Amino acid sequence: MRAVVFEGTRAVSVREVPDPELERPTDVVVRVTSSAVCGTDLHMYDGRIGAEPGLVLGHEPVGVVERAGDAVTAVSVGDRVVLPTHLYCGVCGNCARRLTAACTRVRPGAFGAAYGYAGMGPYRGAQAELLRVPFADANCVPLPGEPGDAYEDAFVLLADAFVTGWHATELAGVRPGDSVAVFGAGTVGLLAAHSALLRGAAEVYVVDRVAERLAVAEGYGAVPVDFTEGDPGDLIRAHRKERGLPPGEESMDGVQRGIDAVGFQADSRRHPGHEDPRQVIHDLARLVNPTGGIGVAGVFAARDEDPARNGHGDGSLRVPWATLFDKGISVGFGRTHDRRYTALLRDMILAGRAEPQRVVTHHGTLDQASSLYGEFDHRTGGVVKAVLRP
Ligand SMILES: NC(=O)c1ccc[n+]([C@@H]2O[C@H](COP(=O)([O-])OP(=O)(O)OC[C@H]3O[C@@H](n4cnc5c(N)ncnc54)[C@H](O)[C@@H]3O)[C@@H](O)[C@H]2O)c1
Ligand SMILES: [Zn+2]
Ligand SMILES: [Zn+2]
Repeated sequence: MRAVVFEGTRAVSVREVPDPELERPTDVVVRVTSSAVCGTDLHMYDGRIGAEPGLVLGHEPVGVVERAGDAVTAVSVGDRVVLPTHLYCGVCGNCARRLTAACTRVRPGAFGAAYGYAGMGPYRGAQAELLRVPFADANCVPLPGEPGDAYEDAFVLLADAFVTGWHATELAGVRPGDSVAVFGAGTVGLLAAHSALLRGAAEVYVVDRVAERLAVAEGYGAVPVDFTEGDPGDLIRAHRKERGLPPGEESMDGVQRGIDAVGFQADSRRHPGHEDPRQVIHDLARLVNPTGGIGVAGVFAARDEDPARNGHGDGSLRVPWATLFDKGISVGFGRTHDRRYTALLRDMILAGRAEPQRVVTHHGTLDQASSLYGEFDHRTGGVVKAVLRP
């Protein structure tokens, strides 16, 4: 089969690789119909998190079951399915507690695993014609309809981006009536903003510098904030004051909930063109109101091959601990426990309530992966989310 392969820093190619096999009776092999490119792939593409050349990339697939092992009972050949990024066994203690991103059986000696992801287990990636799915009864989430129908783009976002955006709102504790600031208008941030609004947030701000991404945020009903025009915290406070704060709440002119949908490769505001992995947590700690919450969905790498000046190779960062303590802010971190949210978000799509597909700007074949990765990495060509159709 053909697959997108990491060749080295800022180089991917499409190569012939061996077809996946059914390795266990609980496996299926899925024919991939759509496979999205994610900001997480860029951490590997940029040579930051130790991907080995030869790794087949991709962790956001939708497809059709092509072969099924003898022990698979929940899905059959021909079924249309989405495969959550963070694969899991479905029955270990953590899976039973719905903490699938911390499954104890998919990566022996550690917890949690993902397709096509450096350091997250031996599973090949999904930017390919075929994908082996272990523990298939647990991992295949059934979808109605036919490949290529009007839901194809919405469903591919169920694999990772939409569930992660939703998870970020859970981590931050978003409730009806809340004010929310989302840093990062990539797919994860945009879908966190969409999720916050679906959950009844009163005001949602989205901070970025890329105009076409901020325009998508505005389309969802969020207020776009361009961080090249000033300190985003000051801009948001000014906007909230202008709207009018309830009497007695003048000192609560920040936001109640903050979301980091950027991660460790954040742009420095003081030194444009450079990274500062501490930028977003510093901005959020100042902006979030006392007693508020912060959800960190952006990735922080355990091993950074080329740390920025304020970064650290082992991911240790200086964060404003005292500000968070003084304000009594709760901070939640981590990978999304996909399976909690996949079916509920699928059903919101089918009911016409959720429209994650608005973030998809580009489609391509596997052969176009190299140019799409380049444009996505450079924030050029208007790429917000690219979906490959193998
Ligand atoms: N927790 C999880 O399970 C999970 C799942 C998927 C992705 N992620 C991570 O979420 C992050 C976002 O993913 P994505 O696909 O949206 O990526 P992306 O690269 O498309 O988007 C990141 C956005 O952040 C913006 N940005 C950079 N510095 C900023 C700053 N200082 N302030 C505000 N915005 C800034 C960029 O301009 C860009 O638009 C990545 O780190 C990715 O690895 C985590
Ligand atoms: Zn992803
Ligand atoms: Zn498990």
